[in-house]
Amino acid sequence: MPTLFLSGSNIKGLLDMSEVIGAVEEAFRESSREEVQMPAKSYLTLERGDFRAMPASVPGAAGVKWVNVHPRNPSLGLPTVMATIILNDPLTGYPLSIMDATEMTAYRTGATAAIASKYLARPGAQTLGIVGAGRQAYTQIMAHAELFDLKAIRVFDPAKAAVTKLIEHFPQYPIKEASLEEAVASDILCTVTPARSPVVRREWVLPGTHINAIGADAAGKEELEPPVLKEAMVVVDDIRQATTSGEINVPIAGGLFTIDDIHATLAEVISGQRPGRESEETITVFDSTGIAIEDIAVARMIYEKAKGSPDYLSLKFVE
Ligand SMILES: NC(=O)c1ccc[n+]([C@@H]2O[C@H](COP(=O)([O-])OP(=O)(O)OC[C@H]3O[C@@H](n4cnc5c(N)ncnc54)[C@H](O)[C@@H]3O)[C@@H](O)[C@H]2O)c1
Repeated sequence: MPTLFLSGSNIKGLLDMSEVIGAVEEAFRESSREEVQMPAKSYLTLERGDFRAMPASVPGAAGVKWVNVHPRNPSLGLPTVMATIILNDPLTGYPLSIMDATEMTAYRTGATAAIASKYLARPGAQTLGIVGAGRQAYTQIMAHAELFDLKAIRVFDPAKAAVTKLIEHFPQYPIKEASLEEAVASDILCTVTPARSPVVRREWVLPGTHINAIGADAAGKEELEPPVLKEAMVVVDDIRQATTSGEINVPIAGGLFTIDDIHATLAEVISGQRPGRESEETITVFDSTGIAIEDIAVARMIYEKAKGSPDYLSLKFVE
């Protein structure tokens, strides 16, 4: 059996945000039933960026994502984040597929945040704030638009051209450029910057806000002032990863937050093992580091979809 090679353009033709949301939510449910395996990702830190190896198994599939984060890449015409997945048959180890996972990474990151918003934001949330208008911002908007009836999307980025490009890309959505404070003052806030010092001040965050803290995914990165976390109900994707590389990593290292301050994992909230928000006033934070089960679950879904597609035989195979 040859190995299926799926290029970036093959993957673009197979990705559908509502299906990615379904695949990612199922992966979190499988995790809550202890049907997955996932060691914490391991990092290779180089001068201009880093690489992460992210292995996992989910029912019916196993694999690894190899992904970089090089924040200066956009000035070279390259994405900050680029990824490849090798998907294997868990019974034999056979490499079923090699996939370009750059677009899949952006989709699953948006999908995961929107799922967190579904379980943690106030019911009827209507406004979305985006801080950081780079690649990940697009799929934050797409995924939230799948699950929420958004009346306003407020985007802040010091790079004005990035905001203009984002607004022009989505004429169908009510998106406007905003100040940082205006973007923060939204029902749901997604922070998607490579910041290494807090961007969001406690005084700007309104009662009842849900925040998806997406950008901090390596040691030393943080986007929120620690008092935001101290006062919020904090839900993480993975405790080991969050404490060492998520939004809480810097406050933990500085003694401003502890592992006991974590309310739950997202899998626990989705499965009902732990409660979600307590009141309309609660500030909730989802600390997203990005976990390998999201990737392998989406890769499993994409592989099955490719096999069932009318174009299957015209795809590329490697012997
Ligand atoms: N949690 C996850 O699963 C996950 C997944 C992918 C990427 N990430 C992280 O998300 C971040 C963004 O990734 P990307 O691919 O969108 O990068 P990108 O380079 O495409 O975009 C980053 C944007 O942030 C803006 N920015 C920088 N500092 C800012 C600030 N102080 N305030 C507002 N905007 C600011 C930049 O101008 C740029 O437009 C990175 O840190 C990346 O590592 C996390």
